[in-house]
Amino acid sequence: MFLVGLFMTSCVQEIQPEARPIMAEPAIINITLKTDSDSITAGRTLFMQKCSNCHYIDRPDFFVGPSLRGILKNPLLPVSRKPATPENIVRQMRHPFTSMPSFVFFSDEDLTNVLAFLNSL
Ligand code: HEC
Repeated sequence: MFLVGLFMTSCVQEIQPEARPIMAEPAIINITLKTDSDSITAGRTLFMQKCSNCHYIDRPDFFVGPSLRGILKNPLLPVSRKPATPENIVRQMRHPFTSMPSFVFFSDEDLTNVLAFLNSL
């Protein structure tokens, strides 16, 4: 699973944006924000593999993308200026605002775990 995930990230990064998967926007995104340590730990692992090469979490600076420190504690998302809600972060992972690669292959559990980690920052 770890290796498959790693392989998919490198593909997405190498072949984007032409081969970015295009999928219909799901009608309803139903997110339960988890706060247990297992979800946060699993989310941290995913973040380190898939997100940390473009986003800082330990300082407020823009890297390839904006810092995600305290992302769910601010009123607005930093680039799109949409409300900083778990739903809009899931939308960003599935259908990025501009040049971020899509993580449309993330399972619901992956999305929930990444959100649990982001919420802990
Ligand atoms: C290849 C670089 C790259 C990777 C990897 C990446 N991002 Fe991004 N991210 C960006 C860029 C660039 C932006 C600016 C907005 C855009 O281009 O969509 C962004 C913006 C964002 C935003 C703010 C969106 C807004 O509406 O302002 C969030 C939240 C975010 N990324 C989360 C993530 C998460 C979570 C991951 C890992 C699953 C991730 N990113 C992986 C480059 C990246």
